[in-house]
Amino acid sequence: MFSARTGWDLTPNRLSSLLEGRRNRGEPVLDLTETNPTRVGIEYPADVLAPLADPEALRYDPAPGGLASARAAVAADYTRRGVPIEPSRVLLTASTSEAYAWLFKLLCDPGDAVLVPRPSYPLFSYLARLESVDAHAYALSYDGQWHLTLNAVVEALTPRTRAVVVVSPNNPTGSYLKRTEADELLALCAERGLAVISDEVFADYAFGDDPRRTASLAAGGPALAFSLGGLSKSCGLPQVKLAWIAVSGPERWRTAAQARLEVVADTYLSVSTPVQRAAPALLARRPELQRPIAERVAANLDGLRRRLGPGSPASMLHTEGGWSAVLQVPATQSEEERVTRLLEEHGVLVHPGYFFDFPREAFLVLSLLPPPDLFARAVDRIIAVL
Ligand SMILES: Cc1ncc(COP(=O)(O)O)c(C=O)c1O
Repeated sequence: MFSARTGWDLTPNRLSSLLEGRRNRGEPVLDLTETNPTRVGIEYPADVLAPLADPEALRYDPAPGGLASARAAVAADYTRRGVPIEPSRVLLTASTSEAYAWLFKLLCDPGDAVLVPRPSYPLFSYLARLESVDAHAYALSYDGQWHLTLNAVVEALTPRTRAVVVVSPNNPTGSYLKRTEADELLALCAERGLAVISDEVFADYAFGDDPRRTASLAAGGPALAFSLGGLSKSCGLPQVKLAWIAVSGPERWRTAAQARLEVVADTYLSVSTPVQRAAPALLARRPELQRPIAERVAANLDGLRRRLGPGSPASMLHTEGGWSAVLQVPATQSEEERVTRLLEEHGVLVHPGYFFDFPREAFLVLSLLPPPDLFARAVDRIIAVL
């Protein structure tokens, strides 16, 4: 009856069954997997969604790439990041996940492949599979800092590879793509006729400056590239559903890509008129919306560093930004056993490294968004059991 694409094993895993049991019994959980900024006690200005009620939105005038005013507001945000682009290079989507789906449709036939970083965000395999595309991993390397090496990308290429995904900063490693890495990757992709998809949703959440970082692949280079962003992270508003693709690269590829993407967009017209009308006002409040999130993340990161003093059994991997931290813990038991016991015996929920496709054990991934007192209690319990 059903497609092979949706043939997932839907039986709940041990961790989710345990969690459900705990919650049903009313037992508290110190949840360090929460990455939804609207569920961690962060205050939002009460009137922030008022622009969604603009009466102008009562009129439906569909524009496949998005309303000019919204595209201009997104382009202005790239200018603010130091990468001025024409609004015509911006195409709106309802979410970054949808942007991936549209780009996979644009670039891949069934059975083609895209390269995705390892470790990284686990949704890629689902997004690719739903487009009948294979997600192949290329390994990021770690020597006290994370690196994207051209060798790792080249090794993962197959004749069916159509695009390389980079995530900057990456989730959960917090590593930014450096200019030299970007230059090499763009040159390789131009030579091999591959596109680059650059996920920059966390770009504004850097822990300090580093001139080696690339601001955005929207700046343009020798390869066709797509820079992704969205309100979900940049304004901490995942429920509002507005994201975008900025297209860059050699003009003939860029214009052809945009023309085809507009047909994809026209087929769905998924971005609501109210959110497009509200986009300039919402983006204008970005600093005010980002501040409490960035402060929360910084406070938890600081608390974590203080708790992991010298002699601690766990250490934090180097991070440059984002909303997560990665702890390396003794591999005296499997990650599976570790996270299960943390939940069962200590009421602490964390993600195991394998969830993000870490190539070896043992790592724990902690969201830096929860309230600092809860975060500190959870980290103390983790350290106590190590
Ligand atoms: C790296 C990365 N890209 C994209 C997304 C999805 O963003 P959106 O809510 O716009 O689909 C996430 C969500 O956590 C993410 O971590």
